[in-house]
Amino acid sequence: MAEKLLNTSVPRHIAIILDGNGRWAKKRGLPRTAGHKAGAKAVEKICEEAYNAGVEYLTLYAFSTENWSRPADEVNMIMNLLRDYLSDSLNNAKKNNMKIRVIGDRSGLSKDIVDKIIETEEASKNYTGLKLQIAINYGGQDEIVRAAKKISEKVKEGELDPSDITKDLFENYLDTAGIPAPDLLIRTSGEQRLSNFLLWQLAYAEFYFTDVLLPDFGKKDLAEAIKCYSQRDRRYGGVKQ
Ligand code: FPP
Repeated sequence: MAEKLLNTSVPRHIAIILDGNGRWAKKRGLPRTAGHKAGAKAVEKICEEAYNAGVEYLTLYAFSTENWSRPADEVNMIMNLLRDYLSDSLNNAKKNNMKIRVIGDRSGLSKDIVDKIIETEEASKNYTGLKLQIAINYGGQDEIVRAAKKISEKVKEGELDPSDITKDLFENYLDTAGIPAPDLLIRTSGEQRLSNFLLWQLAYAEFYFTDVLLPDFGKKDLAEAIKCYSQRDRRYGGVKQ
């Protein structure tokens, strides 16, 4: 109870860099692909637990613009997992009342995946539970460049004047338009870097790094991250009152 009185705030938006599938599999003498499967299972639990904890938005880094450099077999397997996940997500979203949105550059994805993304987003758009963003073929720098290009086009067409470009306007051209910035970033598996994730949006987020590998990350670990967040003192560049 005393701890609760310190700060009861649950982050409204959590972003997670999913990491450690490969090491989880290696430790068990399994192929990396088995690690990704186990990671995908963990993700389902994380969505449920985050919502139960009172989190409104969850954004997951599933596949980066840099992940294409992995061996072709592994890339294919991850794409198949995402295909399956998106196919199941219609049921999943319905069961859990989840609104799903995919962020990232769709032009680099195969047509069947893009079709599934559109179908899932459309089918889940009125659900009022957890808002789940999945980053696929996503890179923070790439997202900022794409936003700058869209704005430049508007300026070229005379629909915008350079003096109209503000921070708020810029945000409306990012993939995450309309979604509040993450309050908490979690990265599993002991790495302590951003790896090009949500570079703009994480400007004032609290960071939480854990050694737990994604397939092992469960309810208790999420609760620990939220507890740690609730004890942070967020000042957004200001001073403590
Ligand atoms: C990180 O582990 C995992 C990935 C880059 C793959 C993407 C995540 C999944 C397939 C989980 C499912 C996600 C969804 C949304 C269904 P790693 O391979 O980098 O692990 P390592 O650093 O230990 O090698």
